[in-house]
Amino acid sequence: MSSFPSACVIGWPIAHSRSPLIHGYWLKQHGLQGLYAREGVAPEHFTHFISHMHERGYIGANVTIPHKEAAYHLVQVKDDIALRLKAVNTLWFEQGNLHGTNSDGIGFTRSLDHQLPGWDQNIAHVLILGAGGATRAIVDALITRGAGRIYIYNRTIENALALQDQFFDHVSICTSEVELQHAYQAAGLVVNTTSLGLDGTSCPPVYFQLCAPKTNVTDIVYTPLETPFLKAAKLHGLRTAHGLDMLFYQATVGFEKWFGVLPEVTEELRQLVLNEIRAGT
Ligand code: ATR
Repeated sequence: MSSFPSACVIGWPIAHSRSPLIHGYWLKQHGLQGLYAREGVAPEHFTHFISHMHERGYIGANVTIPHKEAAYHLVQVKDDIALRLKAVNTLWFEQGNLHGTNSDGIGFTRSLDHQLPGWDQNIAHVLILGAGGATRAIVDALITRGAGRIYIYNRTIENALALQDQFFDHVSICTSEVELQHAYQAAGLVVNTTSLGLDGTSCPPVYFQLCAPKTNVTDIVYTPLETPFLKAAKLHGLRTAHGLDMLFYQATVGFEKWFGVLPEVTEELRQLVLNEIRAGT
């Protein structure tokens, strides 16, 4: 193993992770001697891998699908975000103990801070479409930033109910098209967390014509960068933020912990990742 500080991303499968490209870019940009590797680890080997991670020379790691919940149970010290979400994506050692946090929510809010400055002045009412894995971290981060009422609309009502169970003071579920329309009218921020749009054509139900002109709109899908959802919002003159920067800003948390520098999200980095995505690698 290298004598330089090394981190890795652990997932299964892992071939399409963009993390090595992102961290490799930052290491070079900051002139740091460090390494960031890709580790494909099957679920049955995950516990063993984590318990020998330090011996392998790693000072920390990102954890991705399907290991985020298993990692939560293995870390010795969980921060408040990890405790609330019961899933971690960023690991690091401190005085021999393995620490864990979840940076997905911070990635989401930092991305909006950069793309839509002042967005958090308009979150008394928020509408979220979808209730999948990423939604829990986003709801948690929005509440931390002061969101009032969060309306959730999802194809499978049980998944929305699970979120309402956890965040009952803040979350209301839209169970009909009429309730969804009311949520569009009230929302200062509308977020798509469904996977609809990945194919470049599908879109969750939109009623942007009902939105106030100052409503902000964002999508966590980033291929294509301008999803049909964002395109429709723009047509109604609403301010939008793409989903790609969430990927970068969630990565800044680990990079800062392992290598001691808070890295910058540059246009060059965006282009690098977009080129890799376009090349289909
Ligand atoms: P996860 O993020 O948990 O892995 P996912 O399958 O990627 O889940 O789906 C993320 C979100 O997109 C979910 O809210 C999902 O809705 P369900 O909870 O009903 O599965 C939503 N979604 C995915 N495909 C969809 C479709 N064809 N129509 C509507 N919603 C869809």
